[in-house]
Amino acid sequence: MENPVGVFDSGMGGLTVLKELVRTLPSEHFVYLGDTARVPYGGKSAETVTRYSIEIANHLIRLHDIKLLVVACNTASSLALPALRKIYKIPVVGMVDPCVRRAAGLPRRSSIGVIGTLGTVRSGAYEEALRTAVPSAKVRSVPCPLLVALAEEGWTDKDITRAVIAEYLAPFRAEPPDALILGCTHYPVLKSAIRECIGETPVLIDSGEEAAMVVDILLSETQVRSPAGPREVDFLVTDDPERFARIGRGFYGRELGDVQRIVL
Ligand code: DGL
Repeated sequence: MENPVGVFDSGMGGLTVLKELVRTLPSEHFVYLGDTARVPYGGKSAETVTRYSIEIANHLIRLHDIKLLVVACNTASSLALPALRKIYKIPVVGMVDPCVRRAAGLPRRSSIGVIGTLGTVRSGAYEEALRTAVPSAKVRSVPCPLLVALAEEGWTDKDITRAVIAEYLAPFRAEPPDALILGCTHYPVLKSAIRECIGETPVLIDSGEEAAMVVDILLSETQVRSPAGPREVDFLVTDDPERFARIGRGFYGRELGDVQRIVL
C-alpha cells in the first residue's frame, strides 16, 4: 500500500523516532508533522494535548490519507492515545507500549526507571503499562523537564547539561535500575551524557528504536507495507520552518530538505 505513514510530535523531538523509522523501513513514504507553534506539550493538561493530537491526526488522515499513525511524542502517547485509538480506524502506534515491551523482554528487569516530561510522568502511563507487563518490577519515574530545552539548544556535550542530568538522575545513580526508559523523544540526543552519568549497568531504552520495530511488525501483519520504492519524507510544521530545519538536523542526524509550514 503506497499511502504514507504519518508521524507527529509536539516539535522536533519526534525526529529521533523518524530517524529510526526511515532506517528500519527504507521503502516507506513518511509525512512528519511537528507542532512547533504549540510546543512544548510536556507541561500541558491531558485535555489540551488530546485536542492538539486529534487536530493533527485529522490533518494527516484527511489531507495525506495516512495508513498508520505514529505518535512520536511520549507526552501525547501518555495522554492522548486512548482517545486517538477510539476515534480512528487506522493503527495508532505510541511510544509507551514499545518501550514497555522491550523492558518486559529483558533478562534482568527487577528495577525499571522512567524519565520523561512532567505530563508523561504525571499521567502514570508507563507505571500502569509496566505493572501489567512486568508486575514484579520496582518502577521509579523522574520528570526531567529542563532536558528538552538543553537538547533543543544543541547542548549535548556541555558541563551545564551534565550537571542538570546528574541532579535529575541522582536517585538512579544511588541505586541503578536494570533498565532506564528514555521516555521523551528529545532524550536520545543526550544518550551519551545520560550513559556517562548513570554508568554501564542500566539498559537504556530508546522509544524511537522500539517503536520502529513495532511499526515494522504491524505493517507486515496488516499487509500494508509499501512495495519497494524510493523512500520519501515530507516535513510539515506549524511554525517557523527555518528554525526547525536548522535545529532538527541534530535530532534527525542529517539535513531535512524542504520543510513546509501549514495551518491546522
Ligand atoms: N516530544 C515531547 C515528548 O516526547 C517532549 C517535548 C514537549 O514537551 O513537547 O514528551
